[in-house]
Amino acid sequence: MSSSRLFNWPWPNNPAEELLQKARVASERAYSPYSNFKVGAALLTAGGNVFLGCNVENASYGLTLCAERNAVAAMVVMGYLDPVAIAVVGGYTNAPCPPCGACRQVLAEFNRDMYVVLESPGRVIVMTINELLPVSFSMPERKGL
Ligand code: THU
Repeated sequence: MSSSRLFNWPWPNNPAEELLQKARVASERAYSPYSNFKVGAALLTAGGNVFLGCNVENASYGLTLCAERNAVAAMVVMGYLDPVAIAVVGGYTNAPCPPCGACRQVLAEFNRDMYVVLESPGRVIVMTINELLPVSFSMPERKGL
């Protein structure tokens, strides 16, 4: 977390704290009987819509769905493809819960400048997907090579 820094938040109608609060609500709906590790995500689009996701576990373990990717699916099915920020909360403690590698790649698909909002005791951490997943794989760029 040493590269974390506070950004100027460009969406005054959707404060970062409010997005975190929505992610907290989503985390309470997590289906995680195997790990008991509840994760919630709130994805903000450019137009101010917010889509929620929580982790959904499975007895097979490997079929578990992450909160962030469920939020992306909830956005896409409603016809939106322009996320600008995602808040993620969860875990056993109130330590920051950064997206896993797979979720970073899926978020990078839609916006590599997306803000990622994490909670930490006493402060809000804001990073970008670019910071969390530098030099990410991207098909359009690959086609140009
Ligand atoms: N999990 C997420 O929902 N998002 C992540 O980015 C990392 C992990 C979930 C999956 C599983 O249900 C639980 O957290 C423990 O790994």
